[in-house]
Amino acid sequence: MTQTIGILTSGGDSPGLNAAIRGVGKACMGHYRMKIMGFRDGFRGLAENRTMSLAGNQLSGILTQGGTILGTSRDKPHNMPVDGTIMDMTDAIARNYHQHKLDCLVCLGGGGTQKNALRLKKKGLNVITLPKTIDNDVAGTDITFGFDTALGIATEAIDRLHSTAHSHHRIIVVEVMGHRAGWLTLGAGIAGGADVILIPEIPYTVESVADAIRKRSRGGKPFSIVAVAEGALSQEEHEAQQAALAARKAAKKSGIRIDTTDSKEPELVYAERTLRLAHQLETQTGLEARVTILGHLQRGGTPSAADRLLATRLGTAAADLIHAQEYGVMVAARGDGTEAMPLEEIAGKGKLIPVDHPWIAAARRVGTNLGD
Ligand code: F6P
Repeated sequence: MTQTIGILTSGGDSPGLNAAIRGVGKACMGHYRMKIMGFRDGFRGLAENRTMSLAGNQLSGILTQGGTILGTSRDKPHNMPVDGTIMDMTDAIARNYHQHKLDCLVCLGGGGTQKNALRLKKKGLNVITLPKTIDNDVAGTDITFGFDTALGIATEAIDRLHSTAHSHHRIIVVEVMGHRAGWLTLGAGIAGGADVILIPEIPYTVESVADAIRKRSRGGKPFSIVAVAEGALSQEEHEAQQAALAARKAAKKSGIRIDTTDSKEPELVYAERTLRLAHQLETQTGLEARVTILGHLQRGGTPSAADRLLATRLGTAAADLIHAQEYGVMVAARGDGTEAMPLEEIAGKGKLIPVDHPWIAAARRVGTNLGD
């Protein structure tokens, strides 16, 4: 009986998504003679039954394309805005899944997508996921596709920012994406030779950073590059965040519902923190400071060779698992191969940088200040 597969991309776009779609599609259709159909804009398209044919030459020429030909969204099956109200669309998704007689739904996404896929698994759907994000913060996999490309983009940006820094004797504060994890900032900071690297995993003090910059200045280098993760916090901000989390937990326990929706867009919160840090460093060091926020540049354009290779490996491994009818798993990158990880072991977990990680040691060995 010919298997029929559905595929969707969910969460932030990322380099390598189209390479992964191609890997799944070519292996399923070409090698295993399966049928495959795309759903548009993540789980929302599945809930609204908006499909895209992937037959014919739809998969040709997309290996090198950024973004996702299917479109994506951050919509969650159980918590989806519909005409101004929030609805649980899980049953609609299950209905469409069965109406199309799908044997498996392949979901390409980050941490949130793993959780959403597990919910659909519990609804009785056959699901397989691939770990995608430039943040590299998905548990259970060595790496996610998107990370290597973003690492290259952020590193090149830091390289280029050195010109203005040493020409104008300036502090350049460059904000790097990564959500709550510091992988992208630490990796690009080391590769780009940043003098200071601030990551969420190590709350910093402005004084420590200012001291390091002043020390460089006294040593004849009156300029510094500060790579700051968008999720990095000062020790005060970290303590305030921990206190707020504890208060929310206590309130929830006593049945009081606290509105947790942040009034400000996360990106605005990040930018305000970064601008404030730059101002504080300018005040404490006497050097001019300028800010560059890399933002979505880090997600744009053609995927690196490494990401194309990784996405193709994971995509074709997913086809093998479908053929073997091994469902309910994430296709994790493991060395040169892959490992099928049960979604129960992945969903709801992230992957932050352990404080004893070799990259942190390497940064310290070359004299990088980490804000502590
Ligand atoms: O998860 C990938 C990511 O780029 C994060 O690094 C960043 O914080 C977030 O997405 C931005 O989300 P959006 O594209 O929805 O603004």
